[in-house]
Amino acid sequence: MRAEKNGFDTFMLKEIHEQPRAYQDTMRGRINAGQEIVLPDIALTSAEVRQLKHIHLIACGTAYHAALIGKTVIERLTRIPVEVDLASEYRYRMPVIGENTLVIAVSQSGETADTLAAMRQAKYWGARVMAITNVIGSSVAREADDVLFTLAGPEIAVASTKAYSSQLIAFYLLGLYMAQSLKTLDDTAIAGLIAMLEKLPLQLVSMLRNMNPIRQVAERIAENDHLFFIGRGLDCSLAMEASLKLKEISYIHSEAYAAGELKHGSLALIEENTPVIALATQEELLEKTASNIKEVKARGAYVIALALEGCTGLEKVADQVIYVPRTHPLLTPALAVVPLQMLAYYAASFRGNDVDKPRNLAKSVTVE
Ligand code: G6P
Repeated sequence: MRAEKNGFDTFMLKEIHEQPRAYQDTMRGRINAGQEIVLPDIALTSAEVRQLKHIHLIACGTAYHAALIGKTVIERLTRIPVEVDLASEYRYRMPVIGENTLVIAVSQSGETADTLAAMRQAKYWGARVMAITNVIGSSVAREADDVLFTLAGPEIAVASTKAYSSQLIAFYLLGLYMAQSLKTLDDTAIAGLIAMLEKLPLQLVSMLRNMNPIRQVAERIAENDHLFFIGRGLDCSLAMEASLKLKEISYIHSEAYAAGELKHGSLALIEENTPVIALATQEELLEKTASNIKEVKARGAYVIALALEGCTGLEKVADQVIYVPRTHPLLTPALAVVPLQMLAYYAASFRGNDVDKPRNLAKSVTVE
């Protein structure tokens, strides 16, 4: 079947707009009437979840960035320690795999050579392997012991958008499923999180209606040669994805930094008008991030902050603030990613680049 753009200029734009639907489809049939997570497609039972001692997440590119968020989500919800590795590094560091280690390979295509090779190695070492993938019948799906599919639909644009955000939804579902089994959260807390999860698609729809503020930011940064993304906690992981997206399609050099780490080196690169995009959506870290914003402002940076609706404090310290609707803090990246995808999209468009087919890159990399 030939993929169509359905009236959108590019596949990437279409896929960004398909995210509310991708969230719904990924959740469908996995939340029951009693507000509990049910994952009929995976064989991992509650008793087996209770045996788990470690979880390793392996992935490449954008999927790796989803896994970084997945780590925090699973650890916060279950208290099981989680490690995240680039698939291309995992095999060579001789990871410690015990009987009760679950390895989860995250891959949109399910065909990335490094991810497949790392997954095979983990199986060889005796791990139980789960896959989170978007492609039914892919190699990763066929070879894993359990598969949790993201149901984002085919992704054509090289720069991944809806696959990434659907991977976040998969991690929320899995983390909550494990929390139910472990009783690390009580029923009311789980039901509350599920209710917020179910609201995400509608929140996204309303966000997508007003992308003008981020378009203006993109117009301003499109002329720059390099910029920084900073953030703490989940915002730091999200900053890495935002930076990759921008590099991939706009060819603007950018770096993502843990906000507190910038002063240990890269602050030297901040000059008059260097754009710094400060992700500050995690309220418990807001004060600290605000002080990092002040640090870069004092060196002349032009700061665009991403903050939660109703958070007024940042207007005093940043040059511009883009707002994201409120949800549970763990779920915020699933909303906050959208303006960042659109930032990359608009910046690439302003530069006249081929958004769907960036130079030198392939949708699926089948060589190691
Ligand atoms: C390529 C794509 C990226 C993707 C990465 C991993 O580099 O251009 O967008 O994130 O592969 O792909 P996967 O299919 O394993 O998620």
